[in-house]
Amino acid sequence: MTEPTSRRPVYLDCDTGIDDALAIAYLLASPEIELVGIGTVSGNVSAAQAADNTLRILALAGRGDIPVAVGSHDALARAFDGGAEHVHGGNGIGGVELPDTDLTPIAESAPEFLIRLAEEHAGRLEVITIGPVTNIALALRLDQSLPGRVAAVTAMGGAAFASGNVTPVAEANIWNDPEAAAVMLSAPWPLTLVPLDVTVENTFEEEHLAGLLAAEKPLARAVGAMLGYYFDFYVDLYGRRASALHDPLAAAIAVGAILPTNAPLVDVVVDATAGPARGQTICDLRGQRLGPVDQPGAHIRVVLGTDRPLDAHLLERLLA
Ligand code: RIB
Ligand code: CA
Repeated sequence: MTEPTSRRPVYLDCDTGIDDALAIAYLLASPEIELVGIGTVSGNVSAAQAADNTLRILALAGRGDIPVAVGSHDALARAFDGGAEHVHGGNGIGGVELPDTDLTPIAESAPEFLIRLAEEHAGRLEVITIGPVTNIALALRLDQSLPGRVAAVTAMGGAAFASGNVTPVAEANIWNDPEAAAVMLSAPWPLTLVPLDVTVENTFEEEHLAGLLAAEKPLARAVGAMLGYYFDFYVDLYGRRASALHDPLAAAIAVGAILPTNAPLVDVVVDATAGPARGQTICDLRGQRLGPVDQPGAHIRVVLGTDRPLDAHLLERLLA
């Protein structure tokens, strides 16, 4: 039985890659919330590898008390494709070898764990997803009443006006399991979608990397070492060594430290066909020409702008 916490309880679902690692480190340093559990899913790496990465990160941070559950290896409709080694490295964290740990995942699957946490935290649990959402869809299939016990969902994924990053229209977390994304987006819970439109505009630069590598905290130095690999990948996108901050931005918006400024409630559907638009998030932004306008009956908040850049705030928390 998880002891109830006075801080906002958060369940994180991730495919611990490099920006996932940044988001985990950020959440561990965020006083607004209590990270009560982590589930892993295949995406950047396999769910099992993501769990190993996550446990090593937690051990490095002295937070072996946070349970980690391994989730789905395969997507709902397709087998795991081996991950994104060219982006996150073969082990998912830029080839960085974190210290061994005797921490192990719990016996429950991530979907089962999520359902239990929602029950134990009696409607206060907040969910942050920063990978494909297979576990979320499986949890909803196991317990259709789950949305009634979840206070809020924040999901990094999709693209509204922005191009995709796996195909011209599909963002990786949606592309890897569009069927699951369709299930999550259609569930009756308040959901904030943090798409590439805002995450690609928030970067870490060489000075941030230098700050992390010079940090006293071992975890800050470790995520700095991971970022070096990520920077090399992003040269083709930014024309310089830098990195997008996809998952940390979703985490910072979820905790309330970064505020959405242009974030209308609109209908969002996912293309789960086998055609060229597979994985596209089709956001109904037809009424947005004069500014953010909520669509009647819509329950998905699509973040298209934020109150400030993430970089300085993120670095400050990672170094704290
Ligand atoms: O498209 C970016 C997302 O895909 C991030 O969550 C990254 O970690 C990968 O999972
Ligand atoms: Ca991720």
